Amino acid sequence: MCGIVGYIGHRDAFPIIINGLKRLEYRGYDSAGLALYNDKLILKKSKGKVKDLEQLFDNQAQKKGLIGLGHTRWATHGEPNDINAHPHVSNSGNLVIVHNGIIENYDSIKQTLLQRGYRFKSDTDTEVLINLIEDVMNNEQIGLGKAVQIALNQVVGAYAIVVFDRKNPEQIVMARLGSPLAIGIGKDEYFIASDATPFIEFTKNALYLEDEQMAIIQKGKDPQIRNIKDDKLVVPYIQELQLSLDQIEKGGYEHFMLKEIYEQPGVIRDTMRGRVLADQNLIKLSGIDNHLSKFLNAKRIIMIGAGTSWHAGLVGEYLFEELARVPVEVEYSSEFRYRNPIINENDIVIPVSQSGETADTLAAIKLAKQKNAFIYAICNVVGSSIPRESHSGTYTHAGPEIGVASTKAFTTQVMVMAMMALKLAKEKGTVSISEYNMYLSELENIPNKIEKTLESDLYIQQIAHHYKDAANALYLGRGFNFPVALEGALKLKEISYIHAEGYPAAEMKHGPIALIDENMPVVVIATKKGQYEKIISNIQEIKSRKGKIIAIVTEGDQQVKALADHVIEIPETLEAFTPFLATVPLQLLSYYIAVYRGCNVDQPRNLAKSVTVE
Ligand code: AGP
Repeated sequence: MCGIVGYIGHRDAFPIIINGLKRLEYRGYDSAGLALYNDKLILKKSKGKVKDLEQLFDNQAQKKGLIGLGHTRWATHGEPNDINAHPHVSNSGNLVIVHNGIIENYDSIKQTLLQRGYRFKSDTDTEVLINLIEDVMNNEQIGLGKAVQIALNQVVGAYAIVVFDRKNPEQIVMARLGSPLAIGIGKDEYFIASDATPFIEFTKNALYLEDEQMAIIQKGKDPQIRNIKDDKLVVPYIQELQLSLDQIEKGGYEHFMLKEIYEQPGVIRDTMRGRVLADQNLIKLSGIDNHLSKFLNAKRIIMIGAGTSWHAGLVGEYLFEELARVPVEVEYSSEFRYRNPIINENDIVIPVSQSGETADTLAAIKLAKQKNAFIYAICNVVGSSIPRESHSGTYTHAGPEIGVASTKAFTTQVMVMAMMALKLAKEKGTVSISEYNMYLSELENIPNKIEKTLESDLYIQQIAHHYKDAANALYLGRGFNFPVALEGALKLKEISYIHAEGYPAAEMKHGPIALIDENMPVVVIATKKGQYEKIISNIQEIKSRKGKIIAIVTEGDQQVKALADHVIEIPETLEAFTPFLATVPLQLLSYYIAVYRGCNVDQPRNLAKSVTVE
């Protein structure tokens, strides 16, 4: 997720764009850039934050220009550095672009353009796109708008782009598929941005491009909105915005955490984008493909992480062992690094981390490397320390996670592990082709099933209100859902400050059952797959001690419904994929309890988003 700001009108674009970028930094902040046109192109960009970029414009003359583009980046292709920062310029130096999204087929387009003599400075898909547009313009001898429309019909992926041609600085072109783009409509001026925060104080009249729509704005004329597919004109729907600045930043949600819970279907699609190709019965993971022999010969996988990432590693253990039949150990980074662990040459160490900066995990990697292990990182922040320290890896593409409590980071990490385990299972023949295809097609259903799960929001709010004053809580699960029980308990304790513990359900009778009385809410993940009958027995044991039971069940379940005090239904899925769905109600439950308790949900006391110290 990146932040885009564009402007064309009668004001100096610089202050509008630079301030707009600062408001969009929540969308990405590893590098930033700004291009202005004022008889010549002024383009500055750098790794770091928008305030670092602002320092580069060190005299007034550089800040002049009535048309401009700005970008604050969340890297997906290419390390965060000055070269890969946006805006990008075409080979001729005439076309300038900023882009939010992922072009899946950029490599094949790049090879074609290289053969036609184009040269590339950066590693980004964006620079490929702007040169494709230039190539179309040159070959067809057409204007920018038409060239963008033709070029985008050759592109596979997700994008929000804004482009201008310095030979025609009275025009700006934009288009979207999958990433948001808002157009603020002023008097003889237009603001373009990823959301309305950059222009809300200038105008409340906005139109939001729909997917597969583009806009051509020419000074002095009404904006043209067109379909990218067939170039037909579309009547724009202009609305008057009512949201505040703060509400827009959070996408209309009260907190970043709730926004990120609801982003999960979309970001999981981004995690799978270009990787899960069910129509080709294929999973493409370049990190694995480039080191396939290491994975096929691995005698053991050691997953290391902290907090939620450690829980994701536990789900990974079940996935890799069940599907790819490779032994897995899951270690707390902080324990692993001080334990003088035994690491063999054929071991693969998989650090799991949202931030890529967790000190204990980074130290554990360095120790494992000293013992000749192969390190494969699963991380969200491109170019952060952990991936840089690793031999290879797979990024989760979850976009910035601002809320301290990890939500979309967890489900996207599990999605990467599911893709890895399934890919290895096929390569090793540990699943039949029919099983493989069954898993692969169900993976594609997961985002829609999460959307269905989110429909229980209102009911979960009611349950949360009921238990907001609980002093303790127990979370129980079995098999794939044992880690989900741990994750649910962590969510509750870290944002509502209620003491909560997660346990394998069978462990209850080895101690925790002594805690159960009429004041103890017990969350039980009791989905139909796996050890369902055993979990029913556990529920009966809780009930006989007057514990209050909140059960996560497979939709339509009547048996648990007859026993539990509250039942939250989730869609049926394969046992191995229940963590994707069972986690979501637990995220919402902890969120609403924390809200009812008046806690600072996005920045809970004593916690930091990334623990970069020991
Ligand atoms: C989880 O909600 C917390 N934010 C915390 O446990 C977190 O998962 C842990 O600090 C690891 O962070 P990382 O994924 O960035 O390495």
